[in-house]
Amino acid sequence: MKPQILFTRKEIEVALGRLAAEIKRDYECKNPLVIGILKGSFVFMADLIRRLDFPLEVEFIKLSSYGRGMESTGKIKVVQGLSCPVKGRDVLVVEDIVDTGHTITFLMDYLQRKKPASLRLCVLTDKPSRREVPVTIDYLGFSIPNKFIVGYGIDWDEKFRHLPDLCFLEEESKS
Ligand code: IMP
Ligand code: MG
Repeated sequence: MKPQILFTRKEIEVALGRLAAEIKRDYECKNPLVIGILKGSFVFMADLIRRLDFPLEVEFIKLSSYGRGMESTGKIKVVQGLSCPVKGRDVLVVEDIVDTGHTITFLMDYLQRKKPASLRLCVLTDKPSRREVPVTIDYLGFSIPNKFIVGYGIDWDEKFRHLPDLCFLEEESKS
């Protein structure tokens, strides 16, 4: 499996600038709680928050993952929870990919039950053609075709997270 570039780090930077401006417009005076979903969002989260020049707090939550395959198992649970209260906070969730939508739907429902003042979603990449449950994405980096993505924090079987560009995996030809 060989990674091919889908979006370069330059294109990612342009998207980050746009997202940061949109988020600043909505959250500048709200001291939001920005929650990244581990592990896939950690690079995106780190780049995004450094472009947000206003007070905010950072948290991470870890959900059960794909394991070694390329398809979600459908059973999602919180593996590592939050270390601060969500009640009354303006919460912005940061996710790497929305695919079928099951993972993010689970998390948004989980957080909504904790009674935040507001709850919105920022996503780096969206695969709308794969959706099984409807998801509202408030801030979106890229809409992408049905390809398996790696790099820029995103893995396949824990590999490729360190690649600086957003890539997709292509089978190597056998010739
Ligand atoms: P969903 O529940 O099907 O929407 O899957 C979302 C989660 O699956 C994301 O948080 C990713 O961690 C993972 N995922 C979905 N598509 C990909 C991909 O193309 N590459 C790597 N991980 C993916
Ligand atoms: Mg993920």
